[in-house]
Amino acid sequence: MNTTKNTLFSNKPVTIDENSIIMALESSCDETAGAIVRGGREVLANVVASQIKTHEIYGGVIPEIAAREHLEAVNSVIDETFKQAGLKPEDVTAFAGTVGPGLVGCLLVGLNAVKTLALVHDKPFIGINHLNAHISANFIDTDLEPPFIALLVSGGHTQIIEVKSYSEMEIIGETIDDAVGEAYDKVARLIGLPYPGGPKLDKLAQIGNPKAFPLPQAKVGEYDFSFSGLKTAVFRLVKSFDGKELPVNDICASFQECVSETLFKKVKKALVNRGYKTVVLAGGVAANSEIRRKIFNLQEEGYKVYAPAMKYCTDNASMVASCACLFENSLDDINVEVFSRVG
Ligand code: KG4
Ligand code: ZN
Repeated sequence: MNTTKNTLFSNKPVTIDENSIIMALESSCDETAGAIVRGGREVLANVVASQIKTHEIYGGVIPEIAAREHLEAVNSVIDETFKQAGLKPEDVTAFAGTVGPGLVGCLLVGLNAVKTLALVHDKPFIGINHLNAHISANFIDTDLEPPFIALLVSGGHTQIIEVKSYSEMEIIGETIDDAVGEAYDKVARLIGLPYPGGPKLDKLAQIGNPKAFPLPQAKVGEYDFSFSGLKTAVFRLVKSFDGKELPVNDICASFQECVSETLFKKVKKALVNRGYKTVVLAGGVAANSEIRRKIFNLQEEGYKVYAPAMKYCTDNASMVASCACLFENSLDDINVEVFSRVG
């Protein structure tokens, strides 16, 4: 998509197109990430400093500690990103950074750093919505073009989105309580898996029996989701063993089957009812083996299916740079404020 943005000091118009080189920072949660991407699809550098080790001992992300770690990591992440790409700030077309949703103290670190880079080097600044960035991870190394249906499944969000064009998208369904990633992490903690539980639960599920324990699928709006009842059902199941050894693998597999089946059914319904032939997976939970398997099975029915490579599923800055290049973004004002939630 061709758009024009102005440089910050000299106010000169700059065209953002398939040749543009975007440097981006992402710091919305527990990863300090930098990237440089050409034309929204070709990654020249991708650097991620993860804080998992720090938060592991607390069993979850502590926002204040996360913000401090971003502050400690951000300068070396920026240096490493330029080094990896073999480029200098002058070579970049524009700078982009995540504005929200996310943890406010964390977002402030990356966003202020990237705004400063844009100001110092007199380049355009492009503010990015983290959820649109997750969807954009699907443009990396592919020929994907809208229109398509996106299933966005992350630690904080679960949505079905109609992406009609590079400038228009509509959320047609979402969770009314827990996000999928949140449900994974809570169930993982319940059965004693360390943070972040989602990927670990996924691993154990692959060696368990998905039919061992039938679990409830919530009855909510056509494209909406609810996972709090499922979480309670797993809690009751775990309690029913009354201290006896838990069949952990079977519990994981049964939970994973219930979640993936629910997501699959609703996405399929959206594709059929709304007449789409392409579907993309997005967000950290797009790394899940069974959700990927079920959605990729749609290829046998003639659908085109996309999911980001594993390293672009969870938080990274390549998806932010891609989003800055390809989607029309409305957060470009240098005075834009970070935000924690949508709406
Ligand atoms: O998108 P993301 O990196 O951060 C947010 O924007 O929320 O997603 C992180 C979430 C966590 O809840 C993590 O447990 C989950 O994605 N996750 C997984 C898997 N890999 C990451 N959940 C299930 N299966 C996986 N393989
Ligand atoms: Zn994310």
